[in-house]
Amino acid sequence: DLSPIDKAKFVAAKRASEFVESGMRVGLGTGSTAAWLVRCLGEMVREEGLRIRGVPTSARTAALARDVGIDVISLDEAKWLDLTIDGADEFDPELNLIKGGGGALLQEKIVATASDQMIVIADAAKEVANLGAFPLPVEVVPFGWQTTQALLSETLEAMDVMGREITLRMNGERPYVTDEGNYIVDLHLGRIGNARQLALILNQMPGVVENGLFVDICDRVIVGHGDGRIELRD
Ligand code: A5P
Repeated sequence: DLSPIDKAKFVAAKRASEFVESGMRVGLGTGSTAAWLVRCLGEMVREEGLRIRGVPTSARTAALARDVGIDVISLDEAKWLDLTIDGADEFDPELNLIKGGGGALLQEKIVATASDQMIVIADAAKEVANLGAFPLPVEVVPFGWQTTQALLSETLEAMDVMGREITLRMNGERPYVTDEGNYIVDLHLGRIGNARQLALILNQMPGVVENGLFVDICDRVIVGHGDGRIELRD
């Protein structure tokens, strides 16, 4: 028996698996919701003869995908993907997203951008009128990260962004390190007025590798509810 939150994630993942067909190259997201999807697809591979090749967006997802029997290839082997299915931390009415709560935003954005279609699976709590209550993850190179943080801070101030607290993501006593060997700083903004503009400005800064705003990348959101109801947004 699943808790309401797991039920919500599971039904969204299950619905999303219906978009996957044999022969497809599929981007596999990261996080607890995406993990449900990977398990669903594994079951379809093992029991229904589904033939897919999966491109994982993290070492964690790669391990899980192999575990459940999915044929795992790299993005460069796949070259292009038919579909990516991933979770999100927030999505707005335009289907713009904040991602990276799980730390995999860089590979997730590369993979989603290399896909014909991106479907996001999310429980209803992720739906917001305005992005930004969830701290925005920004992946930075370790070299000079404090200087990058200071530059980020000045930039936010110049943009008149409300919340400006910036925290280095930790893993116990040490900085959290991404799969690509970088750090993550979380921007506590409260409300993001212009996601497109902010995403562009962040990515122009030296030291910033990528930010967790996904603008115009997601095509459809499948929203799961704790009682098993599903809604489609596109
Ligand atoms: C991983 O880096 C994130 O982008 C995840 O997609 C996000 O954190 C959602 O995770 P959950 O499905 O666990 O909420």
